[in-house]
Amino acid sequence: MGGLEDRATLLEGTASAVRACVRCRLHVGRTFAVPGEGPPDAPIVLIGEAPGRQEDRTGRPFVGAAGQVLDRSLAASGLSRAEVYITNVVKCRPPANRPPKADEMQACRPYLLAELDAVQPRLLVTLGAHALRGLVGTRPRFADARGTLIDFEGIRLLPTYHPAAVLYNRRLESALAGDLRKVAALVREDEARMPRGGRLNARSRGPSRGATRSGRRAR
Ligand code: URA
Repeated sequence: MGGLEDRATLLEGTASAVRACVRCRLHVGRTFAVPGEGPPDAPIVLIGEAPGRQEDRTGRPFVGAAGQVLDRSLAASGLSRAEVYITNVVKCRPPANRPPKADEMQACRPYLLAELDAVQPRLLVTLGAHALRGLVGTRPRFADARGTLIDFEGIRLLPTYHPAAVLYNRRLESALAGDLRKVAALVREDEARMPRGGRLNARSRGPSRGATRSGRRAR
């Protein structure tokens, strides 16, 4: 596996399954489920928490106010949406934008893992504490891990702030952009060392899925 078409086909299959999903209570109140979006071979996958109102209305991730902050932060770090695949730990909007519950994240997890398997990114970025917990569990804590590199099953993961947090605390915007600059630099380095097409398969870089459920410090 690994061709662009194969990846796109896998992502389309996952998106169809997400749109038809009734695995948890969140499907009841949704307008549209929100599968991930972006190039099937994006070097970076950004993982948010859950769709908000605008995302629920459109079926697309990060198109509301938080999405605008995200676009600005990506631009400030020299990245663009064309280089990132954007998804969420849960694909349906929780009522009144409450954080997703553990069982909802668990029900949605196969879709997130299928997206990661298809895209095989060089680097993962979780946006906010709930996205980090949804992906790696309760350890490491967000406050300890933010802005540092940890390992998620053989893929480097950098946890950063959720763009919505910037809407409440403008001082976080430079920290978010700084974290994304770090991500951009790491990906550029990687691309220089190993150009597209020569990328290692995520599965061959680390322990198999299931062996590691917590984030470990990356080397
Ligand atoms: N917040 C998220 O976590 N995800 C979205 O898609 C939009 C807002």
